[in-house]
Amino acid sequence: MKIINIVGARPNFMKMAPIIEAMNKYPEQIEHLLVHTGQHYDEKMSKAFFVDLGMPKPDIDLGVGSGSHAEQTGKIMLAFEKVCLQEKPDLVIVVGDVNSTMACTITAKKLGIQVAHVEAGLRSRDMSMPEEINRLCTDVLCDYLFTTDHFADENLRAEGVPAEKIHFVGNVMIDTLLKHKAMAATLGLVEAWGLEAGGFATMTLHRPGNVDDPEILQGLLEALATIAKELPIIFPIHPRTRKMAEEFGLGHYFNSGDKVAGIWCTEPLGYLEFLHLNMNARLVLTDSGGLQEETTVLGVPCVTIRPNTERPITCSEGTNVLVGNDPQKVLEAADAILHGPALNGCVPEKWDGRAAERIVGVLMNADQNRQVSPAAGSLSLRV
Ligand code: UD1
Repeated sequence: MKIINIVGARPNFMKMAPIIEAMNKYPEQIEHLLVHTGQHYDEKMSKAFFVDLGMPKPDIDLGVGSGSHAEQTGKIMLAFEKVCLQEKPDLVIVVGDVNSTMACTITAKKLGIQVAHVEAGLRSRDMSMPEEINRLCTDVLCDYLFTTDHFADENLRAEGVPAEKIHFVGNVMIDTLLKHKAMAATLGLVEAWGLEAGGFATMTLHRPGNVDDPEILQGLLEALATIAKELPIIFPIHPRTRKMAEEFGLGHYFNSGDKVAGIWCTEPLGYLEFLHLNMNARLVLTDSGGLQEETTVLGVPCVTIRPNTERPITCSEGTNVLVGNDPQKVLEAADAILHGPALNGCVPEKWDGRAAERIVGVLMNADQNRQVSPAAGSLSLRV
């Protein structure tokens, strides 16, 4: 079985790393190539993660870079089509919900190549999020839908996806977290930065809905600066947020010199560094997707600055609280965590470090069945 694995943006790397590792156990049965679309290209948004996660260098880099959604999606499709025609894979694996996920799915399917989506079935029901559009387009086309929880299974079933395509395998991002937790614990960054375990918060903020409007961004930064007077906030800033904050003249909210009080802005951090900080944080404030899941497993309270989440299990079972982007609500949620009763959550079913192993198991079984009755799943390129 020849498989092309796709990565493109930062949140893809930690999802693909365990899948590659699981595939490497079957060199006789699986030949795999890693394609990086180049959606993220900064050293700190991309290469640093390959180093931290011990991932192999991509076999092919499409080097598409940034652009409008249509431009970026189109460039990925044009470049990836050539790769598919050249390499003739049996299967393409995509993860998450970024533009690279959707672009490679459409390209492969139009060539008659099977596609597997890891982290399928998540739905925010918010069509203003580019990720929701990517998730819907990807899932409707894919042959294998690997899900993280029962909400995702229910979403897919409600959309009419046949049960045999849906495989509840658990969470590959958590495979990576559990593998690296012990190593991250030894980094000593908290002490080196003059912080105390449990004495600071971490934060991420990059969603267009939060950072592209000057009033919304200023309101949020004002609330976050208020929280930071009580609890220092470490903020590894995403390039798009930095760009917007500078454009809107809001750079003064970031106190780059003083870790003890204020929003302490850093460059994007590596996987291990950020995990180390999150493990030791009193609180995480975020609008990212994966961090809601990571905090649930770490047992760290998470305030999600979004009106909805495609990961409701982190609220129903984990430590996540959804507050939207009203600054007052953000303040109240942080206050309740810092001064109210402890938020106790539990770890969702199958978030146990073995999701990638299950995925590879499903794919190998399907391949064996195909070899027994080849007509059932013949793979021929449609050019
Ligand atoms: C993308 C994903 C988002 C994910 C996020 C994680 C989509 C639609 N969005 O958003 O789901 O949560 O990645 O980071 O795919 N930039 C750089 N250097 C880089 C990458 C980006 O400077 O290496 C800047 C560029 O100005 C670019 C902007 O960030 O235009 C946005 O990058 P893009 O890849 O379009 O989306 P993200 O906001 O990163």
